[in-house]
Amino acid sequence: MSLPASRPTPQPGPPSTFAADVRAGLTHAPQKELPSMYLYDEVGSALFEVITVLPEYGVTRAEERLLTRYANEIVDALPADVKVAELGSGSGRKTRRILEALCRKRPTAYCPIEISRTALQLCRRELADIERISIVGYERDYLAGLAEVSRQRKDGERLFVLFLGSTIGNFARLAATRFLRDIRAMLRPGDTLLLGTDLVKPVDTLIAAYDDSIGATAAFNLNLLSRINRELDGDFDLHDFEHVARFNPDVRSVEMHLRAKRHVEAHVGAARLSIELEPGETIWTESSHKYHADEIPAIAADAGFECAHQWVEKEWGFAESLLAVR
Ligand code: AVJ
Repeated sequence: MSLPASRPTPQPGPPSTFAADVRAGLTHAPQKELPSMYLYDEVGSALFEVITVLPEYGVTRAEERLLTRYANEIVDALPADVKVAELGSGSGRKTRRILEALCRKRPTAYCPIEISRTALQLCRRELADIERISIVGYERDYLAGLAEVSRQRKDGERLFVLFLGSTIGNFARLAATRFLRDIRAMLRPGDTLLLGTDLVKPVDTLIAAYDDSIGATAAFNLNLLSRINRELDGDFDLHDFEHVARFNPDVRSVEMHLRAKRHVEAHVGAARLSIELEPGETIWTESSHKYHADEIPAIAADAGFECAHQWVEKEWGFAESLLAVR
């Protein structure tokens, strides 16, 4: 699997571990960074669930409105016999509408693919009551999991891949296309991908969404340092850092950083690492790229898909695009 040249990325390459990624990211010059996938331990996943219900963070609700409104239309646009694979299931709440619409037609297999065991358990608990569903979770990274689901499918079974929530936004732009290509390489004619993307909107709306007034996103971001302390024997003092969200207009992305309020010296035992930060220096922890709805068909074409349908939520600004293998 080819991954982005620029980090942080949602998923590191197979040989990396948390310790190795922390070491590589925190010694990266000139910009220290950490892969955003590590935001989601048990605490981080719970904090993200809080973020999804914040008034400032419209992303999740906008997608839920779309999927509620158009579930039947989406399902009607699919081939008859599909097996569902979801990349990053999260809580499973948004997926429910789609799965209910599918299972009304015929018994359906649902394969959530998640590196977070907590998220897998959450989503199983959330969706197990749907009639005629069979859930098989894969605790793997996205591409390895998808390869396995694709390999295990029955003859004539078409894959319907879900990549929702605008998680694609965590990839740098070129890396996003490359990732779609990697997905495409595991699919066959007749397979489809439903891609959720958060759309470009006024900067103050975006900043508020990533720097909310009760500090939930700040806690979500800071938890990454506290996770390093817990799991890798680190000694970061969280009081030395503050959460920063800034919009990068060149790539249309909201960046989250952790900024040192003063000179910081820290150690991470399990990564055999000592680092220093200057006052004001930041650790870049996440990028959330925002798209124009009409960029998606072009990116899809670049990756070997055709954009068959697109549903746009205009109140917040979110698009769901159904991409068919060309
Ligand atoms: C789950 C990756 C879509 O980028 O909007 C929310 C994560 N980060 N607030 C996003 C997130 C800060 C979220 N995704």
